[in-house]
Amino acid sequence: MSPLAPDVLQRLLSASLAARAHAHVPYSHYAVGAAILDEHGAVHAGCNIENAAYPQGWCAEATALGAMVMAGGKRATAVLVSGPGPDVITPCGGCRQKLREFGDDNLLVIAADPSGVRQSWTLGQLLPASFGPDHLAHASEHSAD
Ligand code: THU
Repeated sequence: MSPLAPDVLQRLLSASLAARAHAHVPYSHYAVGAAILDEHGAVHAGCNIENAAYPQGWCAEATALGAMVMAGGKRATAVLVSGPGPDVITPCGGCRQKLREFGDDNLLVIAADPSGVRQSWTLGQLLPASFGPDHLAHASEHSAD
């Protein structure tokens, strides 16, 4: 299912499930963990953090991306997202775009739950024809200003 080495996959799974245990989910009770593998092989994890003002809550992937950036990671090569099961969790649309900022179509997205890994995709499969940093980098000669 996954081209990752088994030990790396296990590190991601352990980190994601450990992060999930910290989820602040008093409203949905839907705890999520995320663990990102960066370009150096380091793993950065996060959980979802909800808020009494509902729209102010955020997803586990966002917490994990923040941890990666703060640790100096620049690129995401894989992310393992863990939910409660039994349905296979899949990153929300907003998180797909957030991941796109730090990864390309080949970014491996793995879904898991406490029973283990369930499914995987590439970001290109989850977010086809995506808008990304290259669009801005290549736009200068046609910009309106
Ligand atoms: N959630 C995530 O953390 N990541 C996703 O990709 C899907 C949804 C969270 C947001 C909210 O706290 C809870 O799951 C229910 O939507």
